[in-house]
Amino acid sequence: MREHVMPVRRSSIRWEMVEIELRGAQFREAKHAMSSWLPCRGCGLSDFPLGGSPWSPRHRAMVPMVDLGNLPLANRLLSVTSTSNAPYPLVVYYCHNCALIQLADLVPRTEMFTDYVYLTSASKTMMEHFDRYAEGITRRLDLTAKDRVLDVGSNDGTLLKAFQRRGARVLGIEPARNVASIAEAAGVPTLTNYFDLKLAKRLEKVRLVTANNILSHVGSLRDFLATVAHVLRPNGLFVFELPWVADVLRNNSFDMIYHEHLSYFGLKPLTRALREEGLFLVDLEYYPSIHGGTFRGFASPSFEEPSHLVKEMSAREEKEADFWALRDFSERVPKLAHHLRDMLLSLKKEGKRIAGYGAPAKATILLNYCGIGRDILDYASDTTPLKQGKLIPGVKIPVVSPELARTKPPDYYLLLAWNFRQEILAKEREFLDKGGRFVVPFPQPEFVDS
Ligand code: TYD
Repeated sequence: MREHVMPVRRSSIRWEMVEIELRGAQFREAKHAMSSWLPCRGCGLSDFPLGGSPWSPRHRAMVPMVDLGNLPLANRLLSVTSTSNAPYPLVVYYCHNCALIQLADLVPRTEMFTDYVYLTSASKTMMEHFDRYAEGITRRLDLTAKDRVLDVGSNDGTLLKAFQRRGARVLGIEPARNVASIAEAAGVPTLTNYFDLKLAKRLEKVRLVTANNILSHVGSLRDFLATVAHVLRPNGLFVFELPWVADVLRNNSFDMIYHEHLSYFGLKPLTRALREEGLFLVDLEYYPSIHGGTFRGFASPSFEEPSHLVKEMSAREEKEADFWALRDFSERVPKLAHHLRDMLLSLKKEGKRIAGYGAPAKATILLNYCGIGRDILDYASDTTPLKQGKLIPGVKIPVVSPELARTKPPDYYLLLAWNFRQEILAKEREFLDKGGRFVVPFPQPEFVDS
């Protein structure tokens, strides 16, 4: 593939302008036209001339690569009375200029983030992970009671609580009212806001900004990073966690792709976007078992030579998250979906009862894309009270509590919360010992028994 080295140019087209509601056929017609001017969220480029000749055709920087069709918003579970959750197109683009894999910003964010059903505290794995996180950073920065930690997208306050336990002053920023109030009730001061420059100007400068699984949700990525740079002290650190796109591609986990997740980060485009906003990626940690493969980035306002791991993972990514890797992924996804559905249909023909394990946002994508409906799954069991009694959008599979599920256990559980495989298999020892089995969808559908 040709390398396109282009001078940095920030597009005058803002992402908000792309926040237009286009649905179904209307979108398909507009898609081609759109991608010819869609600006990349990372580098801002929309198109550029190849070869530099004034007669050569202008080429798009952004190309559509994976089309999952029209799917409902993943986290908007339906109540039994209100059952509408309109589908929106889900198309993944690749930027030839900076390699950022991304969606177009089609859904108004108030539709996605006003009420939220995801709670960090819903799994033991994440509670422990965030406790170790706070411990590691407190030591690394030698945080004291004088320092303030700002967590953007602080959810139910799980991480900030862990910093509070270690003596730091904390402030959460969380746009979803319902989860922000859970944090407040737990004693974590939280502003119900989006994180932008207007808000940041009202805040004191801080030593540490954290944002976990947030950058993927941000429409105006560059503005967000500029705001982080604004609020950090010169000796401060920006620490963030993100699923590594190379893992998403390698594991075939296409259910990580949903409207909320606007960007799928590799280190290359991320390093570039950070740098252009005055932040330097200096270090990384890698957690292969968190959400199927997560990296924790450390970005500093002052330049330092990047650590060995930054260089090593960036080199791996050259092959594992490039245009060709994404193209191969787009070819594998429909095959995997067919295979999974066929496996489940064969079980149904044998008279087996199947249910879903967990009702994560991912399940909405997996089930709707694969066409796994109520004819296949009786219910999905989930520990989150906010989800119980509701229906998974599109396929309308009812979400029940694990207690209720235990009164009518299936023969097979489809592991929808596959990212907690270890925790769940350990917890469900009894189900497995009694002959129950799991179907794990990724990297290839497989059965797991005792
Ligand atoms: P998660 O994968 O964290 O998030 P996302 O919504 O971003 O895809 O969601 C996991 C879901 O699985 C969450 O709703 C809680 C549920 N869960 C269980 O029901 N039982 C369990 O033992 C665990 C670990 C999770």
